[in-house]
Amino acid sequence: MTRVFSGVKPTGHLTLGNYLGALRRWAEVDQHRADALFCVVDLHALTVDHDPARVRRLSRQAATLLLASGIDPERCTVFLQSHVDEHTRLSYLLECVATDGEMRRMIQYKEKAPRERERGTSVRLSLLTYPALMAADILAYGAHEVPVGEDQTQHVELTRDLAVRFNQRYGHTFVVPKATHPKVATRVMNLQDPTSKMGKSDDSGPGIVYLLDEPDVVRRKIMRAVTDSGLDVVHDREERPGISNLLEILAACVGGNPEDLSGAYQSYGALKKDTAEAVVELLRPVQERHRELCADPGYVEQVLRTGAHKAREMARPTVDTAYRAIGLLPA
Ligand code: AMP
Ligand code: TRP
Repeated sequence: MTRVFSGVKPTGHLTLGNYLGALRRWAEVDQHRADALFCVVDLHALTVDHDPARVRRLSRQAATLLLASGIDPERCTVFLQSHVDEHTRLSYLLECVATDGEMRRMIQYKEKAPRERERGTSVRLSLLTYPALMAADILAYGAHEVPVGEDQTQHVELTRDLAVRFNQRYGHTFVVPKATHPKVATRVMNLQDPTSKMGKSDDSGPGIVYLLDEPDVVRRKIMRAVTDSGLDVVHDREERPGISNLLEILAACVGGNPEDLSGAYQSYGALKKDTAEAVVELLRPVQERHRELCADPGYVEQVLRTGAHKAREMARPTVDTAYRAIGLLPA
């Protein structure tokens, strides 16, 4: 059976980008057709300046939102990365297979390192080595597929390279995984700056729709989205990034494709109005389930405990094999 692994970092409140690029597909598709693991990758949240209490809060919230999105712990495995030691055990071995050069080429490192410096904080070494830990997340479980948004393609490519290199040097140990992406909205853009990704760790609230935003807040953010200088509604990511982003969000919500939908609109206002209502309706059931789950925190904790136990059992044999293959004696 196909094994699927994916994760979300608790570095901020989850966004519409996380939902359309990842969570929704995990819940609607992946968990039904594969043996799937979904992980709140909390160790990754420590790679940039962080507040411990906030990471704890956001980890709990992210896990709750996975369940609220319809991910069913009876069907798949939901857990926190830090509860399963195999991730860091394997990460070290992969650091011994990866090179300094390939880590420094990662786009996210190149973008985030200067941002940290600008804020006057030093760049943590873990920000550089992060892709080795991400590769370990995936390879420990022998995942065939990694459903992610477009921004993660480079990290999954690196994971593939490391798996192939390890297998060639030390004997076949790892499944070589591949990234899968949603058909539309694989890169939801910031509503105020449609040339950059809608990222949860960015501070600029007005361009980001959070999953837990009240309906009126969602409407206001979408109605105030930056549009382009033309007047007609066309889908063209290069020339019309603002309108194209709205068309893609609408298409992801109501089905169909952005090109076809563009023909139905004569004005930006009408497109914004429909997009806003479609997003409000998309988020409504998630928010309702989130409210219910918050009333029963013991349930979420139980799910995470069971998930960690299952995950540990799955990861340990592969990681033990890797330890032996690379030259370490069994304990
Ligand atoms: P992160 O928030 O970086 O932990 O991302 C969790 C998942 O959501 C990953 O699969 C990302 O690729 C996806 N994702 C995050 N932001 C976006 C976005 N703006 N558009 C599409 N997918 C996204
Ligand atoms: N790097 C991913 C992101 O920023 C999060 C992540 C960590 C991940 N480990 C993973 C995603 C393993 C998929 C599989 O979104």
